[in-house]
Amino acid sequence: MHEPRIIVALDFPEGNSALQLAHQLDPQLCRLKVGKELFTATGPQLLEQLMTRGFDVFLDLKFHDIPHTVAKACHAAARLGVWMVNVHALGGRKMLQAAREAVAPGTTRLIAVTLLTSMDQNDLADIGLAGEPEQIVGRLARLADDCGLDGVVCSALEAADLRQQLGERFCLVTPGIRPHGDSADDQRRITTPRQAIRNGADYLVIGRPVTQANDPLLACQRLHAEINEVSTSAAKH
Ligand code: C5P
Repeated sequence: MHEPRIIVALDFPEGNSALQLAHQLDPQLCRLKVGKELFTATGPQLLEQLMTRGFDVFLDLKFHDIPHTVAKACHAAARLGVWMVNVHALGGRKMLQAAREAVAPGTTRLIAVTLLTSMDQNDLADIGLAGEPEQIVGRLARLADDCGLDGVVCSALEAADLRQQLGERFCLVTPGIRPHGDSADDQRRITTPRQAIRNGADYLVIGRPVTQANDPLLACQRLHAEINEVSTSAAKH
């Protein structure tokens, strides 16, 4: 069995819906992402329930604060036993280094968010970030690598460039994935699972194509099969 490269985004307002979906899914096929809404509503108890069912959990809280506070938050996340946690690269070098020191390499994976994809060039200018978004993303990803982080969240469209710049060991986690023919929902720049893997993504964050499917397990099985077809032929992992 290949390691699961799908991370299903549990974007639910409360725990029961998340648990109901998890009941229908298979930890051999996917991991689960718990973000700010669900975690704020349920707390760490839900993480334990998901992990007890055998799922690896990506705690997507995007920490961004002074180095000491972020280090403590990352340490607390690692103590919960989550598989992956993330911070904002915009928190800067000292914050990233403090986060790295708080999470031992080889335990919970520590990754960075570069630029939020919701920000366009005007938004970036508003906060004093000049330059093309792609260049800023590249710079922030290199900073995360420099500080010893395990990888970044990025668009699958940026993955090929980042893979080239940062090498094979750097972990690329990509949202904005839609199987061929599915609705784009509110995503603006989407990529198929096949293309994301070809571009060098390691893990694909996929929400509604699984959570809103009539048969979430079947949706996951299809995605898993599509991914394996590509990764077997590329023999990357
Ligand atoms: O339902 P959908 O597949 O669009 O969900 C994608 C998930 O990835 C959501 O949890 C969303 O918050 C997250 N995400 C994203 N784009 C980013 C970063 C995170 O869609 N740039």
